[in-house]
Order: sequence, then structure tokens, then C-alpha cells
Amino acid sequence: MRIIRTTQALRTWRRRHDPLRTSIGVVPTMGALHAGHRSLIKRARRTCQTVVVSIFVNPLQFGPTEDYRRYPRDLSQDLACCREENVDLVFIPKVDTLYPHDFQTTVAVKSLAQRWEGEYRPTHFQGVTTIVTKLLNLVRPAHAFFGQKDYQQFCVIRQLVKDLDLDTRITLCPTIRDADGFALSSRNHYVTPSQRQRALALYQALSAGKAAIAGGMRRADLVEQKMAKVLDARHGLAIDYLACCDARTLEPLARLRGTVVLLGAIRIGGIRFIDNLIVRIRR
Ligand code: PAF
Repeated sequence: MRIIRTTQALRTWRRRHDPLRTSIGVVPTMGALHAGHRSLIKRARRTCQTVVVSIFVNPLQFGPTEDYRRYPRDLSQDLACCREENVDLVFIPKVDTLYPHDFQTTVAVKSLAQRWEGEYRPTHFQGVTTIVTKLLNLVRPAHAFFGQKDYQQFCVIRQLVKDLDLDTRITLCPTIRDADGFALSSRNHYVTPSQRQRALALYQALSAGKAAIAGGMRRADLVEQKMAKVLDARHGLAIDYLACCDARTLEPLARLRGTVVLLGAIRIGGIRFIDNLIVRIRR
């Protein structure tokens, strides 16, 4: 497994890689790799001849009061995971490699990035789209893989790639959950068992919404009420949003049809949890 730390070395590697013969897949990560990342890497391994993983805690996507310094970092464990998953190349840049002192360009997607998470984390997606653009430019992969856990992030990146004519196919991979349904996330490192127990209500609420739709409910306000009822029954939990949206545009729906995404975000003791479920309505 090759490890590259500079953009210059990455460009040299990429130039030597014949794009006609091999397909390159990239899995962008911020490290603290868990089973969710492993499933992205496995998917890349099945799809592509060469698998690149980037590990970079991107300061640009953290707000001033967010957890950039506290974000879990464990490089030796991450490298062991990449070796086990047969990754070909790991890119581990330093902050000043990607953002030198004179850095001054960012990439922003408009309305899709401004709603839901964008309302609570106004600079977040601009940080994500800037780093993802840089990574896609450096690696020039045929494929890039993202988890459904951050569904809005996936939609924003898909829009970015379309709008900027980037030659990479963006693949959405399923959320990996514990047996009880709790979605895996690197930030779970600092969730206490009692917070985890309460946060599980978000998945239960979304599942209640999904069950209501399966039972024939088509009014979004009623489905949202069903989901809110599950959360309202728990103490010490604040709802940021719970919504039934069009799965492509993320616009809230009044009447449910087609492919719908149920989006939710809650806060427990200063920690935010997000989750979502996609529901396909046939008639
Ligand atoms: O999903 C993440 O871990 C990050 O937002 C990403 C896509 C690696 C960009 O820093």
C-alpha cells in the first residue's frame, strides 16, 4: 500500500497511472475509520482496479464553535484498516499542504447546501465542496464513494460534479448500522451510552415515518407528526428538523410520491445527530 503526503507526489503518481487501462476509485474520509468506511472501500474495491483513500480532517468544514480539535484521529488504526481492505494508495496531506497561507478560493453549491444542515452549519458544505473539488482534481478518479448517512452531503456533491462538469461518477452507499439501528459515525467516539440510547430515538422516529408511508399515509405533515411523537416522548433531546423531502432536490413535500427521503437532526447535550431513510413509493 502506497502512502502519499504531498499534492506534488500525488500528481506524479496520477500522471503515471494510465487512465485508459485502469479505473480509479476514491473514498474521501476524515479518518477514524469504522465499518461504514470499510463498506465504502469494499464497494470501491469491487468497482475499480485502483482504490485511493484520503484521510484528512478538513478544517474548512467545521464551524468556529465545532469540534475540529476534538475530532477523533487515529492514523495507525486507519492505515491498518486500509491495509486490511487492500487499498492501493492512501493520501494523508497536512493542513498547510492543501490550504497554504495564500489559499483564497472556495467552491459553493447554492440552495441545495443552504437548507437543512446548511441552516444549522452555514459554512459546512462550502468546506466539504471545496475539499472534495480539490481531491477530485488531484486524483481524477472515475468513481467516488459516499455514505448515505450524510445524505445531504451526497446530494450537494452530486450537484457540484454535475455543475462543474467533473468527470467522476458519484456513488451512494448504504448507511451501516449497529444491530439496533444506530448509524455508525466517527463522532460516536464521544457519545456516552446514555446519549447513544436517547439518540437511537432518531432512527426509531424515521422508521415510524417509513412504516406510516408503507401503511398508505401520503400527507407529509401527518408523517412528520408521527416521527415527532417518537422523539417528543424522550427527555433531554431537541429536534433541529424532521422532514419528508424529495430525494433529489431535498425540497419539503406536501404530498408524498416517488422517491422520498426522511431527514432528521436532533441535539442531545450539545452533540448533534443526523440520520435519514429513503422510501420508494410505487403508487
Ligand atoms: O464525509 C466526510 O467524512 C467528509 O465530509 C468528506 C467527504 C471526507 C470531506 O471532508
